[in-house]
Amino acid sequence: MSSNAIDGKPTPRPDHRIRSRNPKISFADDFPLAWHSTMPEFACAANGVSLLMPYVEPFVVRSVERVADQLPDEVRPAALAFARQERQHHAQHQRFNDRVYAAHPGLGWSKRLMAATFRFLDRRSDAFGVAFSAGAETVAYAGARWVDDRIGYCFDDAEPDAARLYLWHLAEEVEHKGAAHDVWESFSGNRFLYVMGTVTSILVLAFFAFVNTLGLLWVERKLFSPRAHWNLLVWSITYAFEFLPLAVISSLPGHHPNDLADPVYLPTWLRTQVDNEV
Ligand SMILES: [Fe+2]
Ligand SMILES: [Fe+2]
Repeated sequence: MSSNAIDGKPTPRPDHRIRSRNPKISFADDFPLAWHSTMPEFACAANGVSLLMPYVEPFVVRSVERVADQLPDEVRPAALAFARQERQHHAQHQRFNDRVYAAHPGLGWSKRLMAATFRFLDRRSDAFGVAFSAGAETVAYAGARWVDDRIGYCFDDAEPDAARLYLWHLAEEVEHKGAAHDVWESFSGNRFLYVMGTVTSILVLAFFAFVNTLGLLWVERKLFSPRAHWNLLVWSITYAFEFLPLAVISSLPGHHPNDLADPVYLPTWLRTQVDNEV
């Protein structure tokens, strides 16, 4: 984050290249919900995150759009473009999730719990909403970096359309990594709320990703698989090593997400596999 030389206030760094894309993903009628042939538990964990998207991402969109009129002119276009990307993300995940719930209606209880949680968060202040959004973007960016380090491990044995959904989503998370930070900084800049928003977002997202994954392991008859639990433990710990330093750095005065070195694979994939098709 650079500083304004006149008044000493931090200066947002909006990225005007953010744009919404249609990844053209189609799931065949017989598309397997456990879409990873050698690590079905990986599909369960990724699907557990997918089930959460139509709750957390609309919350982020609402939080950003609610304050859009109060943002500086230089920040508003990138903020709204970021919101459009998030809207497209959860719409695509919803299409997949509908299949999950149709096949396993018993998982509907977590849907109701997620809806109630985000209704509760909706009643917090606008300043909290943008702080939570900035924190949730740190969670997502850490996820993108985690996957980028393990692309072959994660997706070599995955169904291509499932891989495309997650690669497209994560690549756009990299692309808009600084947008929510700029909204938070421009709207309130309250660092205490930023830390609270980040802590709340990781706790809420980790909790629901975990319970959704357990539900999916149950329906896939993998809940008592030692290998599944070992892998989940390793993935959780390695993700924590990715997320925690980022969360600490992100909460420091003077930091801007655009200062972080991007992963290499995901932006390249987006450019060559999606942008070139349009
Ligand atoms: Fe997203
Ligand atoms: Fe995002």
